[in-house]
Amino acid sequence: MSRVLLFTGKGGVGKTTVAAATATLAARSGLKTLVVSTDTAHSLADALGVRAGGEPTEIAPGLSLHQVDTQRALERQWGELRDYARGVFAELGLDEVTAEEITVLPGAEEVIALLELREQARTGLWDVIVIDCAPTAETLRLLALPEALDWHVNRLLPIGRRLLSTISPLVRRLAQVSMPEDHVIGAGERLHRGLMEVRELLTGPGASVRLVLTPEAVVLAEARRTLTSLSLYGYRVDAVIANRVFPSEGADPWRRKWVRAQARHLAEVEESFAPLPVHIVPYLEAEPVGLDALAAVAEAMYGEGDPFAPPSVDPPLRITAEGELILALPLADKDEVDLARKGDELIVNAGSYRRVLALPAALARRSVREAALRDGFLRVRFESGGPDDR
Ligand SMILES: Nc1ncnc2c1ncn2[C@@H]1O[C@H](COP(=O)(O)OP(=O)(O)OP(=O)(O)O)[C@@H](O)[C@H]1O
Ligand SMILES: [Mg+2]
Repeated sequence: MSRVLLFTGKGGVGKTTVAAATATLAARSGLKTLVVSTDTAHSLADALGVRAGGEPTEIAPGLSLHQVDTQRALERQWGELRDYARGVFAELGLDEVTAEEITVLPGAEEVIALLELREQARTGLWDVIVIDCAPTAETLRLLALPEALDWHVNRLLPIGRRLLSTISPLVRRLAQVSMPEDHVIGAGERLHRGLMEVRELLTGPGASVRLVLTPEAVVLAEARRTLTSLSLYGYRVDAVIANRVFPSEGADPWRRKWVRAQARHLAEVEESFAPLPVHIVPYLEAEPVGLDALAAVAEAMYGEGDPFAPPSVDPPLRITAEGELILALPLADKDEVDLARKGDELIVNAGSYRRVLALPAALARRSVREAALRDGFLRVRFESGGPDDR
């Protein structure tokens, strides 16, 4: 199983740099490493000081870079879905949707990149896979997408299938909106299955997220929310990286002010994210570009520890033998967390994020007795009998 490391954080804090540095260190430690970028700006290749290639390209011994060409991947994998979208658009009197337009949809590029990533994980070639994610909000939305989709697809697809087999082609032609053709449903299901597999990979026992920040008030506030929502969606966060920390030696009055402010924020970072380790990367004299500079960043960042050991943090969600559901929601605000029960599902809202949890069979028929948020954990207890027994 590959060790999967995701790097996320607010825009511009140093995600790409830190991801590239980690991948460089992994390769230099003798691990077969793939570093993947989902952004189209090719920053990862720039940071590594190489030219971007569409396929995984070995850029140094044991280190391969995959800069996903989303347009090509889309053409290859999801042409059928595009045909369906085109049909629906035409019937609604809209212009044809083109592949270019699909990739403009928010998040589409990252979804496609994640699907490509799954193919890479399947090859079993890689000891370590490092993913340079999009800035905070987008990544979150995407990471939650497979599960949200699961919810919708489970409801829609079986109906679609049922209708398809009973409605005659003539009726179908008269219907307001086109029914997906059989082969398109196949594509939809394939996409959906692919996304679920991606999610399993990214929340699985070999994967963890590292939160990158700079010691500044605004960045810290966002990182705190990100920690809560990553946990809500089931992703383990195993470290925080504080980048661009000003060295205090030889500081002039201007830098001394920054050093003092950053020290204050760093103390807050330590306190907020404890017990997670906080790795510090100093503000360097120059942009860390190229393998040697990146390796130096990684060494400063991780120190003595083994950054590629399996994650030692627990998965955020577990169900005890007594049937209590426990979901870690670190840093969540009591006033911002609420819970709703809908059929077999539990809907958990934390701030502006929502997770739809499909309850396991053992709990699905039991009503919620009580729920409480304590010490960063949401605990939900269920009645011992089914909802019909009351
Ligand atoms: N510790 C550091 N010292 C000096 N320069 C740095 C440091 N970390 C990052 N940089 C530089 O800051 C710039 C932004 O870093 P980077 O591209 O890694 O951020 P990012 O979080 O990936 O940005 P985006 O959100 O746009 O993807 C780059 O030019 C990078 O070389
Ligand atoms: Mg970046």
